[in-house]
Amino acid sequence: MRNVNADNITQAVVRSFDGAADPRLREIVGKLVQHLHAFAREVNLAPEEWQRGIAFLHAAGKISTDARNEFVLLSDVTGLSSLVDLLASGSGATERSALGPFHAEGSPLLEVGGDLKRDNEGEPMLVHGRVLDAAGRPIPRAQLDFWQAATNGKYWQQDPEQDPHNLRFRMVTGDDGAYAFTTVRPAPYTVPYDGPVGELLRAGGRHAWRPAHFHFIVSAEGFRALTTEVFFADDTYIDEDAVFGVRESLLVNPRMDSDPQLAQRYRLPLPFHIVEFDFRLAAC
Ligand code: BEZ
Ligand code: FE
Repeated sequence: MRNVNADNITQAVVRSFDGAADPRLREIVGKLVQHLHAFAREVNLAPEEWQRGIAFLHAAGKISTDARNEFVLLSDVTGLSSLVDLLASGSGATERSALGPFHAEGSPLLEVGGDLKRDNEGEPMLVHGRVLDAAGRPIPRAQLDFWQAATNGKYWQQDPEQDPHNLRFRMVTGDDGAYAFTTVRPAPYTVPYDGPVGELLRAGGRHAWRPAHFHFIVSAEGFRALTTEVFFADDTYIDEDAVFGVRESLLVNPRMDSDPQLAQRYRLPLPFHIVEFDFRLAAC
């Protein structure tokens, strides 16, 4: 094409992908080009402004390592990760929420009712519930993969003082779909803000805090795996999560309990927090 102009360029670029073997790739890239061009037109993007945009992406690439992906963080703070989760929610399943960068394979197995808090400091908490299908029937032998930050707001990957297996587990539910474990109440923490995404947050007058949460991946044979989070309704940051992961349906109201029998059964000091949350999985 020898006469490219502002009126024909978008169509020309979209057509240039017509030969793609994968029709889904053609659709995604074509729409991406259309929306990127529409954005540049709408804000009348100046060359110096786009150079700053490229410099930002370059900086994001330079700070990224195997252990830190600034592009994932960018997707998170712009709400794109959350939107993709919301679009994939439905079919009667528990709503999806952020995976985040701190999930690790190979968490130790914990039996139902097991103790995760061990020698972690913090307020003791009993967490329990069931894994159900979309009709509310228990799913026997469902698997939970769980991880959380310690009360200093850090995951084990960020804190040399923590054992690499700290505050994470895999668990298989009983025939009644039930799970239970004891832990410490987590604290709010900030997403990494010492890189270009942090600069963007500061320039946008935003903070980097996430409300305290638990991460779960729940799976069972014949069901779609669910990646989600559970939040505390009374958290200071519940209405201003830096990565937009909070959903009303994922809130729990922890209550204080002093039941001596429960305390004895779960080896808890009195009083302790108690939280109940049921997960629902959609069939494949
Ligand atoms: C997290 O919840 O672990 C997380 C999510 C998004 C960005 C950073 C951390
Ligand atoms: Fe997290």
